[in-house]
Amino acid sequence: MDIYKIKGGKKLSGEITISGAKNAALPIIVASLMADGETVLHNVPNLMDIRTIVKVIEALGAKTHFDQAKNILKITAQNIKNNEIPYELVKTMRASVYVMGPLLALTGEADVSLPGGCAIGERPVDIHLSGFEAMGAKIILEHGNIRAKTKKLKGATYKMNKVSVGATANLMMGAVLAEGKTILENSAMEPDIVDLGNFLNAMGAKIDGLGTDKIEIDGVKKLNAVSYSIMPDRIEAGTFLIAGAITKGSITLKNVVPEHIGALLYTLKEMGFKIKTTKDTVSISPSQKLLGTIIRTVPYPGFPTDLQAPIMALATILSGITTVTETIFENRFTHVPELRRMGADITIEGNTAIIRGVKSLSAAPVMMSDLRAGAALIVAALAAKGTTEIRRIYHSDRGYEKLPEKLSQLGVSIKREKGEA
Ligand code: EPZ
Repeated sequence: MDIYKIKGGKKLSGEITISGAKNAALPIIVASLMADGETVLHNVPNLMDIRTIVKVIEALGAKTHFDQAKNILKITAQNIKNNEIPYELVKTMRASVYVMGPLLALTGEADVSLPGGCAIGERPVDIHLSGFEAMGAKIILEHGNIRAKTKKLKGATYKMNKVSVGATANLMMGAVLAEGKTILENSAMEPDIVDLGNFLNAMGAKIDGLGTDKIEIDGVKKLNAVSYSIMPDRIEAGTFLIAGAITKGSITLKNVVPEHIGALLYTLKEMGFKIKTTKDTVSISPSQKLLGTIIRTVPYPGFPTDLQAPIMALATILSGITTVTETIFENRFTHVPELRRMGADITIEGNTAIIRGVKSLSAAPVMMSDLRAGAALIVAALAAKGTTEIRRIYHSDRGYEKLPEKLSQLGVSIKREKGEA
């Protein structure tokens, strides 16, 4: 298994271009199953999770061609069948459950392995399932599988009891080809959902209210294949801004939608960093006085849970105290013991981490436990004294395209090496 060796202490400088959004691309690739003709997706990040979802749709009968160098994915979906998706694929990626919406809409049947828990929490799919039940599907759980069946999905009004990105995406995909009108209440407002909705509308769907907590969908008979460009990855952008911040460097990110990271920009300014934005770039630079602050993760447009670990790494070296409260996932502090190994002063009380700023971090061998916890370790390594060795870096391969290349471009000394098996 490969490891990263990162030499800390260098101020980041320069500019990089942000890749396409993983969490928008995943449902969009699955939604292409419903298109008649060849879908051409641009700005698709070449990531492990993307290659996995492509295998998932191939297992259902889609033909694909992924030009990984150009980030263009072509998908032709004909004769889509409710085939069994190998458990090996599902177990590595929860987003496989996204095939339920399109499969139910196209074939009236969907058999999918029930995703298990994962490193950040239990992550049930009950909201997806009760939403499909509200639309007329019969669902049984047996032998670790979800089996859903319906003659034809029917429009319904369904209020989600919790804001769920995944359930909103899945139900929206099912509803576009359903009979009649569906209203999703308390729906997710994340930009990834808006991007999926825009893609579906470009194919001929009738979705209103994207970006609000009430999405209305009038079912249509057919969707046509289109060419579409995936929006920029706001979590990748946020991670790099935080990386620039922890080194007190000055960097510029291109291909960003600043509005998508509004809550992060607000927090960074509160900490004392200087931020400049244009329509599609963000620049960060330090100021003399940098201070800790109060952070609470909430659904969009609030502070994203996916940046909670990286911002905590930054807080470890700011003056004063930062508190970080995680309200979305119950087990998303696995980076804390690793950051402590690097000298951070962090106490956990319930779902709040209290971070007392230390003068500096010191390099230590550490291990990634999930994608964003891994990002936190990389951020910490950039500021630590010495060379940090990070293991289990396959986690960051899932969500950060060309990570070592982009960090090198900003002046970081980073090596990817073969570690022990
Ligand atoms: C998406 O996960 C993202 N994944 C996650 O990004 C992100 O952390 C999360 O949204 C929150 O923003 C993808 O888009 C592929 P949810 P998702 O359904 O859809 C509970 C990353 O690092 N819930 O919005 O699975 C759930 O347990 C990943 O890129 C139910 O109780 O998240 C959680 O507490 C990790 N029942 C909360 O809702 C359900 O049926 C929000 O989860 C569904 C969810």
